[in-house]
Amino acid sequence: MRLFEHKDLLSIDQLSIADIELILDMAESFKEISNRDIKKVPTLRGKTVVNLFYEPSTRTRSSFEIAAKRLSADTFNLSSSNSSTIKGETLIDTGMNLQAMNPDVIILRHSSTGAPHMMAKAVSSGVINAGDGINEHPTQALLDLFTIREKKGRIEGLKIVIIGDISHSRVAKSNIKGLKKLGADVTVSGPPTMVPIGIENYGINVIHNPSEAIRKKDVIMLLRIQFERQSNILFPGIREYAKYFGVTRKMIELANDDAIIMHPGPINRGVELASEVIDSPGSVILEQVKNGVAIRMAILYLLIGGSSK
Ligand code: CP
Repeated sequence: MRLFEHKDLLSIDQLSIADIELILDMAESFKEISNRDIKKVPTLRGKTVVNLFYEPSTRTRSSFEIAAKRLSADTFNLSSSNSSTIKGETLIDTGMNLQAMNPDVIILRHSSTGAPHMMAKAVSSGVINAGDGINEHPTQALLDLFTIREKKGRIEGLKIVIIGDISHSRVAKSNIKGLKKLGADVTVSGPPTMVPIGIENYGINVIHNPSEAIRKKDVIMLLRIQFERQSNILFPGIREYAKYFGVTRKMIELANDDAIIMHPGPINRGVELASEVIDSPGSVILEQVKNGVAIRMAILYLLIGGSSK
């Protein structure tokens, strides 16, 4: 019997609370492997994992590759610059050609919303959404949920604020869905031009002033301004953003004493977050990266290897 009844991982929407808890619990048991001298188990021996990245990535791509290798899967990487995309091949034709070589899973990052969903319909292998435009980044949200649960012991009832360019952030969208599913109290903050109109209707608090938004929160999650995804200038400039919305140590003092600081990366130091906060004891930013390997090991295992046995 399979533990996880999904061919693909495309969105937090498709996951039940039980699915999310299964992924987090599985990641907890996989995390220990990365601390061993020999960081490898034979669990996915003989499986093939393709990293197909049409946008730059430091964390997601390398952690998927490390996760696959720690489970003994074979991996290979393809990007837009070294694939036949530059000769005019469509995404789906690329997918069908990869499918002909029988991979078990294709991990896809793309600038267009819905690209992984199209790919999942076209190929019989599993597809994992590694970030599609401004839509979703489900594996980032799962590693964030894992980190919050690890640090706080729970997610239900926690007060969490997400600050930054909410409208263009796939990380914000996936996190809001996951956090709401698990019962957190979610607030978003940022310039009115970067917060979707009507988001309150989804049970989310909106406090534009970041100092007010941080007050008495348990978790403070920062986001980068997604300049590459904005079709209009939504703020006069980086210096103004840093002055009015950049989070400083003084602002963090308004949160609960044991609040944690999170950021999915990449960080623009001194813009959305001051360096002294990034490197402070409350910051769990690099632990998020570490947990990314465990979460991606769990997801690969559940999608292409998992059985009750
Ligand atoms: N958090 C995240 O998606 O980072 P990368 O763009 O480096 O993968």
